[in-house]
Amino acid sequence: MKKSVLCAAAFAMLFGFAFTGGAMAQDKGPAEMTLKTAKGKKPALFPHAKHQGHLACDDCHKALDVKKMATEKNYAHKVGCKACHKAKGASTKCSTCHPKKKKAIEGC
Ligand code: HEC
Ligand code: HEC
Ligand code: HEC
Repeated sequence: MKKSVLCAAAFAMLFGFAFTGGAMAQDKGPAEMTLKTAKGKKPALFPHAKHQGHLACDDCHKALDVKKMATEKNYAHKVGCKACHKAKGASTKCSTCHPKKKKAIEGC
């Protein structure tokens, strides 16, 4: 009897943690976004989920201004996206972030 009550309590705790984790994991935002300035002349494709795989949320959401990164060219190039790519040795080729239209539609 005692044992099963303990087990039930442990299970409930585990389940509680798992549930909290699940609820947090759900607010990851879109997996992919198309970012544009007000002019909208050169949209950028942003694979959000891929970045979440190798960076901490805070690397962008606390250390940087994600709103500016998504909408301002100078910020995106000099402080946000491109600056981090440069610092981490990731690609800074224009087409990495500004893919040709066809590619963007095919999603590859
Ligand atoms: C690491 C990602 C990244 C790279 C590399 C990059 N850009 Fe950008 N760029 C952005 C983001 C993000 C924006 C802001 C959102 C948008 O309008 O695309 C932007 C904005 C722009 C804009 C402004 C468009 C507008 O309508 O206001 C131009 C022009 C531009 N980039 C040209 C370039 C060129 C040319 C290169 C290569 C020399 C380049 N970018 C490389 C991410 C990048
Ligand atoms: C490489 C940078 C980067 C990383 C890492 C990152 N994000 Fe984001 N995230 C962005 C950008 C840029 C936007 C778009 C902001 C906008 O449009 O104003 C965004 C948007 C979001 C949104 C949509 C709501 C909002 O704030 O605009 C959520 C939710 C979100 N991110 C959660 C997360 C979580 C959770 C993690 C970690 C698991 C994470 N992000 C990691 C850059 C990042
Ligand atoms: C804090 C650092 C950081 C920021 C900010 C950041 N990136 Fe990246 N990004 C990386 C790294 C590192 C890689 C290379 C990952 C790899 O090689 O696996 C990468 C890869 C990419 C790729 C290629 C993904 C692929 O399929 O291989 C694209 C496209 C990209 N980033 C766009 C952007 C755009 C657009 C922004 C701004 C909205 C941005 N990144 C902001 C670190 C960053």
